Amino acid sequence: MNAEELVEVVLPGKVEPEGLQVRRGAPVAGPGQVLVRVEATGVSFAEQQMRRGRYYDQPAFPFVPGYDLVGTVLATGEGVEPGLAGTRVAALVKVGGWASHVIVDAADVVEVPDGVGAAEAETVVVNGITAWQMLHRKARVRTGQTVLVHGANGGVGSVLVQLAQAAGVKVIGTASARHHDALRERGVVPVDYRTEDVATRVRELAPGGVDAVFDHVGGRGVVGSWRLLAPGGALVSYGSASTRDDEGSKQWPVLKLLGRVWLWNALPNRRRAYFFNVWAGRAMAKNRFRARLRADLTQVFAALQRGDVTAQIAAQLPLTRITDALRLAESGTVAGKVVLNP
Ligand SMILES: NC(=O)c1ccc[n+]([C@@H]2O[C@H](COP(=O)([O-])OP(=O)(O)OC[C@H]3O[C@@H](n4cnc5c(N)ncnc54)[C@H](OP(=O)(O)O)[C@@H]3O)[C@@H](O)[C@H]2O)c1
Repeated sequence: MNAEELVEVVLPGKVEPEGLQVRRGAPVAGPGQVLVRVEATGVSFAEQQMRRGRYYDQPAFPFVPGYDLVGTVLATGEGVEPGLAGTRVAALVKVGGWASHVIVDAADVVEVPDGVGAAEAETVVVNGITAWQMLHRKARVRTGQTVLVHGANGGVGSVLVQLAQAAGVKVIGTASARHHDALRERGVVPVDYRTEDVATRVRELAPGGVDAVFDHVGGRGVVGSWRLLAPGGALVSYGSASTRDDEGSKQWPVLKLLGRVWLWNALPNRRRAYFFNVWAGRAMAKNRFRARLRADLTQVFAALQRGDVTAQIAAQLPLTRITDALRLAESGTVAGKVVLNP
């Protein structure tokens, strides 16, 4: 129970960014839950798909978007360690983060270490978990290897690049030309996916093929990614950004990727293919899923604390400027994560 007023952003249906609405209320944590005052949330690619009704696992309208959040525990419900109050935590929620306060299961929050700011931490919640798990649980990269990261300037891409480098891996990254200087400064070899023939350029840079490709672009281009692999290499497909504005089934582009992955693994070719889904395993074994997420996000926070990863905050805006934030995230000019402060 508390005297604070909840303010949240509602996505009422398929709308332009101007169509988002603001709602108010009074939140109370139930048994096993905590009430978190949100300090930072952000714009993920998922919200770009959700506002078009094109997210693979689209929630029913109306709903409050916001894939992840960082905040301070204000109140604990029955059965929750009361000492958790006052702690800064992060949570992966898929929806609900674009709010001043959220109610979350206590088992789903991960403590943010001292010295890591809310906005910094926010840049590595969904992005960091995704990047870490793809690198270390799927591709299982090793020192001295070379990988190709598509969208190296993006929210996930910018964390992926840095975690790979921290593991001693050389990175080739695709991005628009405007991001190349920043990528070079980071030690990434940039390739312009808009103007260059990516396959030709990557073959020049890595004649024997690359050890892993991280592909969120999907569509037919994923075949090109697969062909760039060295023997023993791994393709990690994890999105379908290229079909965001298509008409028709929202599931079909992902089902096609799953089909290709299945086929590639079924054929004898000394290469591995995965489709990564950050929610995989949650429905079957919730506690195992939570333990893995907690362990991995804790590793990413430690990398942030050590300076192995520098938070890439593309912009910070108040939550009330959600329309500008969404427009900016979709502008194709952004490096890193657009962070929202309620
Ligand atoms: N499977 C999972 O569990 C999971 C979890 C998290 C994220 N994801 C996926 O990860 C991807 C990145 O998410 P994010 O939040 O990091 O997004 P983001 O910050 O908006 O970054 C998107 C990146 O993709 C590039 N891009 C956009 N459209 C493209 C296209 N048609 N062809 C090539 N590149 C394109 C952008 O480049 P420009 O700046 O040049 O436009 C940017 O580098 C999304 O596809 C998302 O669905 C998947």
